[in-house]
Amino acid sequence: MALTFAEDSADALPIYLVGSEAPETVLAGLSEEQGEWAEFNGFNGQLGQALALPNRGGALVGTGTPEARIRKRFAVGAAISGLPGATYKIANPAPEGPDADEIALGFLLSCYRFDRYRSQSAAKAKLVAPDGVDASSLETIAASESLTRDLINTPAEDMGPDALEEAVRTLAREFGADVSAVEGDDLKDQNFPLIHTVGRAAAKAPRLIEMTWGMKGPALTLVGKGVCFDTGGLNLKPGASMGLMKKDMGGAANVLGLARMIMASGMTCRLRVLIPAVENNVSGNAFRPGDIYTARNGLTVEINNTDAEGRLVLADALAYGSEAKPDLMICMATLTGAARVAVGPDIAPFFTDDDPFASALAAASSQVADPVWRLPFHEPYEAMIEPGIADLDNAPSGGMAGSITAALFLRRFADVGRFAHFDVYGWQRANAPARPKGGVGQGIRALFHALPEVLSK
Ligand code: BES
Ligand code: MN
Ligand code: ZN
Repeated sequence: MALTFAEDSADALPIYLVGSEAPETVLAGLSEEQGEWAEFNGFNGQLGQALALPNRGGALVGTGTPEARIRKRFAVGAAISGLPGATYKIANPAPEGPDADEIALGFLLSCYRFDRYRSQSAAKAKLVAPDGVDASSLETIAASESLTRDLINTPAEDMGPDALEEAVRTLAREFGADVSAVEGDDLKDQNFPLIHTVGRAAAKAPRLIEMTWGMKGPALTLVGKGVCFDTGGLNLKPGASMGLMKKDMGGAANVLGLARMIMASGMTCRLRVLIPAVENNVSGNAFRPGDIYTARNGLTVEINNTDAEGRLVLADALAYGSEAKPDLMICMATLTGAARVAVGPDIAPFFTDDDPFASALAAASSQVADPVWRLPFHEPYEAMIEPGIADLDNAPSGGMAGSITAALFLRRFADVGRFAHFDVYGWQRANAPARPKGGVGQGIRALFHALPEVLSK
């Protein structure tokens, strides 16, 4: 579904933005009938209030106070998206009022609906791009976020490793990128043992998908966990934990959304995207607890829980990505339940040893309202991922610092100068401004804004 702005036209209905500190400054300019309607409906300019005016008179949208808008980012755009189906245009952009970019992007992101399996969809509000915004770059961000959401929302039956590869090929065609994939037994022959091991029990063959784009500039490699469904393997997840596991390719969906932003904006870099795409399922040939496997880089891994599969497939992909020595490698994965326990579903925890990266990202994060938070690669916990009879343990017992130990595990395979890993949740549990319920991108808008600065260092 396209998230775009409407053409400007004479019959676009006016939106009057009304702050809650002095609503009368705007309300006094309305007709008597409109003023009564506003009063009758209790409209006072509170953030997120939206009131359509009778007789196609347009709409009032509450912008609250600056403090309220910091607490609830994207609320104004979200309120506009909820207006009755018509085309609107903001009539009174106040210079000291809410940021036009945030209103416009909040509107686009709030308009997202996952409609692939719906026979009908209701008419929606359309918005003429507010004055002063770069409409096409906001549309690029929204379309890329929409790609991420669609990929996550699509059920595993229609988004298996094969369909995920097809989605990468479709994206690549749009931007003239190259795609290749190593599939099935070829994974063994080409030394991707862990990707093969995790994916071999599923009906749809596991694969490593690779997309490259761009001829000059710094080399940037994005690696995304593409577990198209995570049953937990022989350490089967209980039903309640398995229910949402179509989203376990959320890391892949995020890096593809970010790749789309990079390609569509023509960022100067040599981009490479690596997605180990598998289904973690159960069969007679499934990998087992207690097995020991040798990863691509030669480290041996003891399997203590087949449900800690993400770090296994990422290990081979990160080792492979490292061989080309990119300037920066970024990994995104729905890696641990522990990350969600630590920071909840809104915030993407990330790990890096690169302080300039972390501070550029923190600044971008608050600027574009895409929350991330740094967690440490705490060295003393390295002992927790060393079992004794192999080099590494994929699932340390003890229930401590699960997101950190998983990140430390990944770092053993990321042999590059600059590395960052994001442990994302990838799912919005209830409708919120700019985040309708369902699959959601995390950290990719912040990364997109920070990357030019990060890559220039
Ligand atoms: N995909 C899950 C992690 C997950 C679960 C992310 C729920 C978001 C929401 C991952 O493969 C997993 O099962 N991790 C285990 C690791 C454990 C066995 C060491 C976990 O976090 O419980
Ligand atoms: Mn798992
Ligand atoms: Zn998983």
